[in-house]
Amino acid sequence: MCGIIGYKGPENASEIIFTGLKRLEYRGYDSWGIAAKKDRGLFSLKRAEKLGEFEGKLPETHTAIGHSRWATHGGVSERNAHPHLSCDGNIAVVHNGIIENYQELRKYLMSKGHLFSSDTDTEVIAHLIEDYAKAHPFRESVLKAIEHLRGSYAIVAIKADEDEVIGARKDSPLVVGIGDGECFLASDVPAFIDHTKKVVFLGDEEMAVLNNGAEFYDVVTGKEIEKEATEVEWDAEQASKGEFEHYMIKEISEQKDSLLRAVAHEDKTLMDIADQINNAFGVFFVACGSSYHAALTASYIFSKITKKHINVVYASEFPYYEDFLTERTLMIPISQSGETADVMAAVKTAKKKGTKILSIVNVMGSSLMRASHSCLLMNSGPEIGVLSTKTYTSQVALLTMLAYACVGKLKEGKELVRKAAEAAEELTSAESRIKIVELASKLHKEEHMFSIGRGVSYPTALEAALKVKEVAYVNCLGFCGGEAKHGSIALVYDGMPCLVFSPSDETKADILSNAMELKARGAYIIGVSPENNETFDCHIKVPDVGDGNAIVDIIPVQLFSYYLAKLRGCDPDKPKHLAKAVTVR
Ligand code: G6P
Repeated sequence: MCGIIGYKGPENASEIIFTGLKRLEYRGYDSWGIAAKKDRGLFSLKRAEKLGEFEGKLPETHTAIGHSRWATHGGVSERNAHPHLSCDGNIAVVHNGIIENYQELRKYLMSKGHLFSSDTDTEVIAHLIEDYAKAHPFRESVLKAIEHLRGSYAIVAIKADEDEVIGARKDSPLVVGIGDGECFLASDVPAFIDHTKKVVFLGDEEMAVLNNGAEFYDVVTGKEIEKEATEVEWDAEQASKGEFEHYMIKEISEQKDSLLRAVAHEDKTLMDIADQINNAFGVFFVACGSSYHAALTASYIFSKITKKHINVVYASEFPYYEDFLTERTLMIPISQSGETADVMAAVKTAKKKGTKILSIVNVMGSSLMRASHSCLLMNSGPEIGVLSTKTYTSQVALLTMLAYACVGKLKEGKELVRKAAEAAEELTSAESRIKIVELASKLHKEEHMFSIGRGVSYPTALEAALKVKEVAYVNCLGFCGGEAKHGSIALVYDGMPCLVFSPSDETKADILSNAMELKARGAYIIGVSPENNETFDCHIKVPDVGDGNAIVDIIPVQLFSYYLAKLRGCDPDKPKHLAKAVTVR
């Protein structure tokens, strides 16, 4: 994971890097660091704390790099924070990815007299560059160092006596921002969106050299290449917290707009995808985390609307299904970040079998988008909070519309999502929040919860449990209502909160019976439903949007998790041990 950034230009680079890192913190936030050109040497600072805790001063400079870490190799400590420096302290490197052969490289470099000062895989890169820099110019040294690396990398490097900032990538993201007389390198666009919307997405094994403008090279041949700049649609306001205390609550509140942006997809685009689904022999939805729950939800909707069976597989498990894949299979990877390593590995497996890849992704230019034969961009806008909220509902909305498109009823599907957007506005209003805050205040000392649903609401129950777990650290067990009696019911105690998703559909009678069985054993039943019921100890009213309920029923629980986290003293934007873009397997 980790966020990396580099800047070269007339402004104060330290400030730009520090602000950019704050925007990249969603990628990892256990420690951070910065290196900058200062006088004739390099200034470097590393901290094993959150960026917000820093009160020191950074030097005025025009060339700098920075890093926000999610530890993989080496514990969380100042010595393991990036940037990593060469022995002479003249080369500094920040890295996102994993160097698989770092142990052997480390031994080799130590035998040549290099001294290491961290436990990370990254440090070998700084020493490799240093080794080559004895006889070669900086950019050539970087190219030669990269040749040794196995695994994934996005790196940004600077050298004390060179003006250039150099970046390169393979299997980890890196984008170049082209401003007016200034250039940026970063893991993701929000890091520099305040300064420019003009972006070049680096491809795998490509290198960018920032000096007066940006030059691009093919890492394998070393030859200069032409790259086109793209204008991104996001603006600085979308990527900032604005009046909100956290990104999470901002993004929950934006769901009316993100759903309307889903509806705004052109009919032709959605119909083309529907044709591909209809013509495929075997369709696989492949995803992780919340995106997996969106996929599972959609499989129920496809079953009901199109009478079609969709295989839904966790990306990390997908390679074990490779025997089912043919050239007529359609794989639909679903990912908000487009960088999830398990999803990328699944795509690789499918491609080997000649399977067509049609991805659904929120981040333009992401690795998944580039690796796919075609891609539907979600247009949810930037989501910076670590938890998926608006991207989750957009995924369910898009997949719902696709199901309707498959049976020639796209107009109906779009109408459903429009209604869901209205419902999202109501559910996130100040008035609706009052009840949710009251509930969170009542329950914030609880350590265990259940979350149940049936049919299309079963994945909603899983997603609800995930939200509560990952942000408020409450052990919330999600399962389908019918399964309670096969084991989990043994855990129920007096007063144990249980979320029950009960839309007005074919699951209603059965899920209410399941809720009653839990209530009879002492559970405190929180019904998420259009109508109240005697089973509920607390009723969270949601508008009835028919088959669109799978889009909106999660919204009150997103809010509940947020307020629960705050009341329990957890930072909603930085849940411990998690990151938004999971680039490790
Ligand atoms: C991380 C994020 C989740 C997300 C999951 C899958 O765990 O915190 O919010 O659902 O990765 O990510 P993807 O980008 O593939 O949707």
